[in-house]
Amino acid sequence: MERLGIDIGGSGIKGAPVDVASGALTAERFRLETPQPATPEAVTETMAEVVGHFGWTGPVGVTFPGIVRSGVIHSAANVDEAWVDLDAAGRFGAAIGAPATVLNDADAAGIAEVAFGAGKGVAGVVLLLTFGTGIGSALFVDGRLVPNTELGHLEVDGHDAESRAAASVREETDMSWKKWAERVDRYLEVVEALFSPALIIVGGGVSKKADKFLPLIEIDTPIVPAQLLNEAGIVGAAMAAVAAAP
Ligand code: BGC
Repeated sequence: MERLGIDIGGSGIKGAPVDVASGALTAERFRLETPQPATPEAVTETMAEVVGHFGWTGPVGVTFPGIVRSGVIHSAANVDEAWVDLDAAGRFGAAIGAPATVLNDADAAGIAEVAFGAGKGVAGVVLLLTFGTGIGSALFVDGRLVPNTELGHLEVDGHDAESRAAASVREETDMSWKKWAERVDRYLEVVEALFSPALIIVGGGVSKKADKFLPLIEIDTPIVPAQLLNEAGIVGAAMAAVAAAP
């Protein structure tokens, strides 16, 4: 069974059709720049262009970098405020003339990693954390997702965690990997103390450079890079579309 998965990020809107049984993309990924400002109108139009690129007319799954409940956006830490309280699923569906399932970006990446990647077959509490523009989280218990956990906004030493330890903070300030790893380590220490996970999976663009910082992380919990890298959000979005309408 195939669904189109679309991953809305701060810099790009990416999509591909996915064979949800294997997690494989069935056509090459297509990416457009995220419009700036990322208003609901502009993003919806770009999302529809990605759908149009594939000539896709069936159901789609779409990720969003904020809290999503029943298709409605409830937070927008790193995108235009106008998204809050909008029925994104309704809007996307109307724009493409087909059902759209919308879910949090980290949740989508986690669903894919647990099905096909680093979290496959791992029992107990598994936590995927994405380090990018912000910090996203996806919490699983025996493979079942607890959606919208938002652990990137835990308060650590008096700061919103992602304002100190997101990958964007290192890039924007030219911070050394060592210094950034110390910040990530401190954040993970807090997460570990609160959730006692069996495994932490590190996702987001920075997972491609895991060798630069994972060896510097000192927490006790096993911690591994994500395996699906750039494709996890697309694959998880497609899987969510199937779960919503098999
Ligand atoms: C948002 C989350 C999102 C994460 C990664 C955070 O700022 O609050 O919903 O998953 O960024 O994009």
